[in-house]
Amino acid sequence: MCRIMIVNVWRMPPLTLVCAMLCVSACVAALCPPRCECSETQRTVSCASAGLSRIPAAIPRDATRLSITGNSIQRLEQSAFNALQNVTHLNLSSNGIMELGSHAFSSLQTLRSLILNHNRLVLIHPEAFCVPGSPLQELSLRSSLHNYTSLTDLITALRWGQLTNLRRLHLSANHLVLLPPAMFSPLPNLQHLHLSENSLSAVHNSTFSGVERLLELDLTRNAMRRLSGEGLRELERMPHVRLLLSQNPYACTCDTEEFVSWLNSSRVRVGDAETLFCAFPAALRHVSLQALSAQALGCHVNPVGEEVIHLTLQTSYVFLGLVLGFVGIVFLFVLYLNRKGIKKWMSDFYEACRDVLESYQYRYEIDSDPRLQQVSQDQAQADTRVGRVPSAVPAAQILSDVTL
Ligand SMILES: *[C@@H]1O[C@H](CO)[C@@H](O)[C@H](O)[C@H]1NC(C)=O
Ligand SMILES: *[C@@H]1O[C@H](CO)[C@@H](O)[C@H](O)[C@H]1NC(C)=O
Ligand SMILES: *[C@@H]1O[C@H](CO)[C@@H](O)[C@H](O)[C@H]1NC(C)=O
Ligand SMILES: *[C@@H]1O[C@H](CO)[C@@H](O)[C@H](O)[C@H]1NC(C)=O
Ligand SMILES: *[C@@H]1O[C@H](CO)[C@@H](O)[C@H](O)[C@H]1NC(C)=O
Repeated sequence: MCRIMIVNVWRMPPLTLVCAMLCVSACVAALCPPRCECSETQRTVSCASAGLSRIPAAIPRDATRLSITGNSIQRLEQSAFNALQNVTHLNLSSNGIMELGSHAFSSLQTLRSLILNHNRLVLIHPEAFCVPGSPLQELSLRSSLHNYTSLTDLITALRWGQLTNLRRLHLSANHLVLLPPAMFSPLPNLQHLHLSENSLSAVHNSTFSGVERLLELDLTRNAMRRLSGEGLRELERMPHVRLLLSQNPYACTCDTEEFVSWLNSSRVRVGDAETLFCAFPAALRHVSLQALSAQALGCHVNPVGEEVIHLTLQTSYVFLGLVLGFVGIVFLFVLYLNRKGIKKWMSDFYEACRDVLESYQYRYEIDSDPRLQQVSQDQAQADTRVGRVPSAVPAAQILSDVTL
């Protein structure tokens, strides 16, 4: 993806060429840039807090270690490091760098270590890390990314840079809250990944996919309350990794149980397992996660008790249902046995009702006849007595039938 930069010398006007050659010889002759320190024997150049606003031009060409720190250099342009082909270590910490331009380091063809700590990278060009042959082995960006946009810029630049030799990546103290899935997959040979002092709260499904050769993963001083089952399985996929997990605010509740037992039995080596402590609840603060037992977490006392109650409730409901069903069946059976009696009782009741109705009708007729006023009272009493007799018979009969 990286464009190969070839400057065609022969197309340059002759005067420029002569000037360039003069300049090159002048640079070689110049021992050291102003306000910098150079060691000829060690081939190191150091420009610390030298008030520089750009990369000095007159850097000895045989330098292998170049350190330009504590200055105020806002941008790194494409040609910033031309003619420094032997630099292997470049330290650009604390320069307030905001922008990495396209091919900023591409003339440093033996660059192995690039330190960009404590800058304020707002813009990273997708081709910023393109160096022919991808020699870079270490990239350090501690406390250097301005915001999440810078992180996505960085991911693009890592992919475009094809950094197949990168072994170490430092991304500590960058306020990282979320790592995009598979963000490290362009770095197939990554061995050491430093993510401490961020605000990461979880490890997800494919956070570390593509970097299964990781040897060290530092997640100390983040915001993890626990590692979920998903996160644990993700870590299990890196069989040789040594994990660092201390100084996270672990919540020691039942949700942590899986993590605690994983710590106890995991194949994955947790380098600082003895120094993982609970931060919550207050009663368990400063208790070591390794020393925690399932009983201390209180996970198996209450749920089991609840389960038992639940189970007894369930069985008692079933029992009640069975009893009610049985009573219903007995009732229906008794009704069936007494079907003749019931039928008789029904017809008796019907007749009794009819008698009563007839007697009322009769009384009404008498009442409506003024001549029979006197007789009516005696007659009514006799009628009600007659009405009671038939209804009393079947009731007694049913009782005797049921008891039979
Ligand atoms: C860079 O290193 C090589 C090999 O060590 C050496 O031959 C060459 O002269 C060096 N270049 C400069 C400009 O010193
Ligand atoms: C880079 O420079 C800074 C500031 O001078 C220094 O503290 C740090 O140790 C250097 N890093 C490396 C890897 O040399
Ligand atoms: C990051 O900062 C830049 C410059 O300040 C701004 O343009 C951009 O919107 C910011 N991105 C986020 C995600 O806040
Ligand atoms: C994890 O990723 C795989 C595919 O890589 C997917 O099948 C699975 O559902 C994911 N699991 C979760 C919990 O997201
Ligand atoms: C850890 O493992 C040991 C034995 O290997 C066992 O006795 C102990 O109960 C385990 N602790 C937890 C929290 O699982």
